[in-house]
Amino acid sequence: MSGGAAAPAQNLVWVPKVAEIAREAGASLREFLAQGVETEYKGDVDLVTVADRTVEKLIRERLGEAFPEHGIYGEEGTRDRMEGEFRWYVDPLDGTTNFAHGFPQFCVSMGLERRTSGMPPQRDGTLVAAVIYDPMRDELFTAEQGQGARLNGRPMRVSRIPDLAESLLSTGFPSRKRHASPNIHFYQEFTLRSHGVRRAGSAALDLAYVACGRLEAFWEFNLNPWDTAAGILLVEEAGGRVTDFAGNPFQLNSREILASNGLIQAELVALFNDMFAGRNLAPIPTPQEFARRRAEKQS
Ligand code: IPD
Ligand code: CA
Ligand code: CA
Repeated sequence: MSGGAAAPAQNLVWVPKVAEIAREAGASLREFLAQGVETEYKGDVDLVTVADRTVEKLIRERLGEAFPEHGIYGEEGTRDRMEGEFRWYVDPLDGTTNFAHGFPQFCVSMGLERRTSGMPPQRDGTLVAAVIYDPMRDELFTAEQGQGARLNGRPMRVSRIPDLAESLLSTGFPSRKRHASPNIHFYQEFTLRSHGVRRAGSAALDLAYVACGRLEAFWEFNLNPWDTAAGILLVEEAGGRVTDFAGNPFQLNSREILASNGLIQAELVALFNDMFAGRNLAPIPTPQEFARRRAEKQS
């Protein structure tokens, strides 16, 4: 983050209004948290609360009032005006598991895509605006295309750390079909090669933290566009890069995301390559091997 320098003037079209909506949504999340809410299961350990649904409804109403032509694609089921030129990807509460446990790491995430008419549904438009709000820390992350990214109104940049060995990373794990995910292997390998891997439970905040330089990189399997749309624009506008695990351009419906400060992207892609090929892995003892050695020492 730049210190003290006057921020260049901006000509923002969507962010001021959407920041207001995100703050209202965040205030509502804080109230629900204070009251305590019941948790339901959508799947395996995929939780949902009245807060997720109520806040999506609030955002839907507010966005509809502010931008009546814009589409809205929300995690809790909103599918409004999907044929339009503009489409908001909305996660009213990213980090529901944390929220349900009172663990203060969750946010509201809204990303705006601009699509050209007649574009096939599977093709991505351009991300043009992003707002992520953390109501527990009162941190507002914002960006519009070509105008840089900001944290509470001050310009933010990705970190300058040039290698994985000195990096702090982050990832997440799915809450559905957990046994089908190989990510624990990647978690292990990246942990052994870096300063560590955080698993803080909000993909949108993980991306915002890459954008403001608190993390060097973030990866995850099987996210949805409402988790990623805003964070991708934040990272790119803050000078970072977002690709799939092979280094190809990221697509919103992609099943893999790798975001970084840009400087360590090639090293990360090479490690993903090695891991998918089973090359150069750092061995650690299995629990059985460890138990055997432990028993030998005790005898
Ligand atoms: C989840 C969070 C979490 C990630 C999961 C997401 P939700 O979103 O972003 O960090 O690991 O994959 O589903 O369900 O809390 O909105
Ligand atoms: Ca989410
Ligand atoms: Ca959510």
